[in-house]
Amino acid sequence: MRTPFLLVTRSCKAIHRLQQSAFVSPVSALYRHQTNSVLRNSSTVSCKDDRSYYITTPIFYVNASPHLGHLYSAVIADCLHRYKLLQGFNSKFATGTDEHGLKIQQAAAAAGKDPLTFCTDVSERFKHLFNRCNISYTDYIRTTEQRHHQAVKHFWSVLWNKGLIYKGSYEGWYSTQDESFLTALQVGDAVDSSGNEIKVSLESGHKVEWMKEENYMFRLSAFRSQLLDWLKGNPRAIQPEMFYQVVLKWLQEDLPDLSVSRQRSRLQWGIPVPGDAEQTIYVWLDALVNYLTVAGYPDIHNQWWNVAHHIVGKDILKFHAVYWPAFLLGAGLPLPQTIYVHSHWTVGGKKMSKSLGNVVDPLERSKQFTTDGMRYFLLRQGVPDSDSDYTDDKAFKLLNAELADSLGGLLNRCTAPALNPAQVYTAFCPQSFPSEQGGRAVGEDYHMLEAVKNLPAVVEQHYESMHVYKALEAISACVRQTNGFVQRHAPWKLERIDITDQRWLDTIIHVSLECLRMYGTLLQPVVPEISDKLLSRLGVQPDERGLADVNFLPKIRGMDCPFEGRVLGSDTGVLFTRLENLDRDKQNPKKTKKAKK
Ligand code: MSP
Repeated sequence: MRTPFLLVTRSCKAIHRLQQSAFVSPVSALYRHQTNSVLRNSSTVSCKDDRSYYITTPIFYVNASPHLGHLYSAVIADCLHRYKLLQGFNSKFATGTDEHGLKIQQAAAAAGKDPLTFCTDVSERFKHLFNRCNISYTDYIRTTEQRHHQAVKHFWSVLWNKGLIYKGSYEGWYSTQDESFLTALQVGDAVDSSGNEIKVSLESGHKVEWMKEENYMFRLSAFRSQLLDWLKGNPRAIQPEMFYQVVLKWLQEDLPDLSVSRQRSRLQWGIPVPGDAEQTIYVWLDALVNYLTVAGYPDIHNQWWNVAHHIVGKDILKFHAVYWPAFLLGAGLPLPQTIYVHSHWTVGGKKMSKSLGNVVDPLERSKQFTTDGMRYFLLRQGVPDSDSDYTDDKAFKLLNAELADSLGGLLNRCTAPALNPAQVYTAFCPQSFPSEQGGRAVGEDYHMLEAVKNLPAVVEQHYESMHVYKALEAISACVRQTNGFVQRHAPWKLERIDITDQRWLDTIIHVSLECLRMYGTLLQPVVPEISDKLLSRLGVQPDERGLADVNFLPKIRGMDCPFEGRVLGSDTGVLFTRLENLDRDKQNPKKTKKAKK
């Protein structure tokens, strides 16, 4: 990850010292037995309701307004949720805001507001953005809610009663920006923009401060081997694979116990430690429990908790793949099924930050590109394994090429009154396009059909592994092939008075409409509005849009096609209006005029 500071070197002077109190509770044989059975239950095959699915986004800090990166986490989760619904799953989808901690306390003070009013204001901004972008969450959690306080206190008490939390004192580095404790090896020297020498986190580049205080510690060190067992037994628990390897490496290094509270005198904005009003629960422990709160914890929660999947950015991997599973093992709860990790959006190769002034406002862009345009761009260009650089120009080009010209153009051709005056789902003629080579179809047409027939399986595999961009790449390639098919046979040149020509023309349109039905169905998780418009135009009813219904081109196999002969849906305008890049056009008026001509 890049750092905003000029110089970063590893500090040898930094000291990390952890003093444990005299009280040490043994991790008993009984407790070991419990964790082993939890590990068994956490395997991807056991103990889950096959029709339920639970997906979460990270909960978002409310110290600043939402930016493009936040929307990206939410859009990925929304896409997987919608995809699971299409597969017929009962899917729960949680998002929300992370509202406690020093960072929020300081931001509220700087804004001159009481913390809860401040949190409510910013939380509403996230909600507004998500509603506007069709993020179809089923639960929006705020950590300031009562239900969450109860869950966190219960969770703490379980860990405490098992002897996994003890009172100690922590002395070491703390990053308020990351709300994270760091060892000496994770800290480096840097110079800030005013020329002052400071210490920073080597991972995030954020400033760190020395901290020394009494607090509660969690016996993280006791969980190293169980965590390794979990990962070795579940190689797909963390995806993509490169992040799985990162976590394995962390677990081979030193894993010190973790401070899980702060002195109340320093941090008032948080949940008090049960039974000790002088301490506040560490914001990450508090925040991670949100996933359980939504599942119904501490009451009935198994239906959802046994099938939990988390979407997280790479910067918060350690919290989710090391601390969280260790807490869960400690509390005797199953571990998440999958932790899907994504990389970041940068601007000009740099991390988005207020100080650099390169933050991209997702609300403004979703107005400019439309909601579906924004969603499509993020998922088509965002690569989980590596950072993606954002520019407006890329968005204009991609959306115009793939949504307006390619997909929109194809629909336009097949439904234009000139080619389809009856406005129907035309008939397929097996003599013109037999299942084996022959008729008027050529080899390339059969290749195209093969690709489209295999598309659901290809797309499914990519959606399941969060490589949405690969799914979209595959769909886009098929759309291009279908356009090639229409272009090759130029149906507008056919003599319609000739009955065989008319049949061939109808067949070309039928095949193209079938392809479009596939694309519309498979694109629903990514661009729900465009897909709805497309499928409605084809006359595909809402209950015919599931993945189980996507029986492609049955007529070529001698089966009935339920759509054949149906009247098309009404024409509600172009599928995706071409976007004009006004900024670029202003800078390059000549180029634009030429391009338009
Ligand atoms: N509050 C914690 C998460 C607690 S979850 C129990 C947090 N919040 S955050 O607001 O800072 O980040 C939320 C998500 O946004 C993270 O997944 C993070 O990776 C993601 N992003 C933040 N900046 C990003 C980019 N520039 N690009 C892509 N995603 C980024 O961490």
